[in-house]
Amino acid sequence: MNESLRYAVSRESLLRLQLSWFLGSGGLPPLGTLWEKRMEVHFSSKTDLWSTPQDFYDKYNKKYNFEIDVCALPENSKCSKFFTPEQDGLKQKWVGTCWMNPPYGREIKKWVKKAYESSLNGATVVCLLPARTDTTWWHDYCIKGDIEFIRGRLKFGGSKNSAPFPSAVIVFKGEENGRV
Ligand SMILES: C[S@@+](CC[C@H](N)C(=O)[O-])C[C@H]1O[C@@H](n2cnc3c(N)ncnc32)[C@H](O)[C@@H]1O
Repeated sequence: MNESLRYAVSRESLLRLQLSWFLGSGGLPPLGTLWEKRMEVHFSSKTDLWSTPQDFYDKYNKKYNFEIDVCALPENSKCSKFFTPEQDGLKQKWVGTCWMNPPYGREIKKWVKKAYESSLNGATVVCLLPARTDTTWWHDYCIKGDIEFIRGRLKFGGSKNSAPFPSAVIVFKGEENGRV
């Protein structure tokens, strides 16, 4: 093996070792797969099941006293009142104080639009969202709400691992818009 090849091989091994240690996984899939896995979480419908950490929700619930979870399943709903996929939360009227941690797939824009528009009709909607500040939905809607960037990364759905993306809480306040 010539010197530059030996250097390239040992450098890749070292990088893999560091990544492996960082991920704490004990093993490492091929680098391409790892990248795809990290990206798919941003778009996959699997994120539908990524429920809000209970203590995180409790903190906001203490402040807002939510009346309804606008997108949930019976097993992950944060409120006793909630809209299921069968009812389709996007087709319902949102009133009062609403909690929204929407599916993080491509439909997310519809949810953020609905949250903003519901606030124009008097609802207060508190949204837990990935902080994708370069997206159209961020610029079209999120910047019109109160934005709180979350320090660190959340651990969704009781996962031991932190999410591979930052989060933000956006509050679209019904009253403040003066349109109640
Ligand atoms: C990220 S999870 C949030 C779950 C829970 N609300 C929470 O905060 O932990 C998004 C939820 O939205 C549900 N969902 C997907 N499409 C929906 C729809 N059209 N109407 C109502 N809920 C929907 C999914 O089944 C999933 O449970």
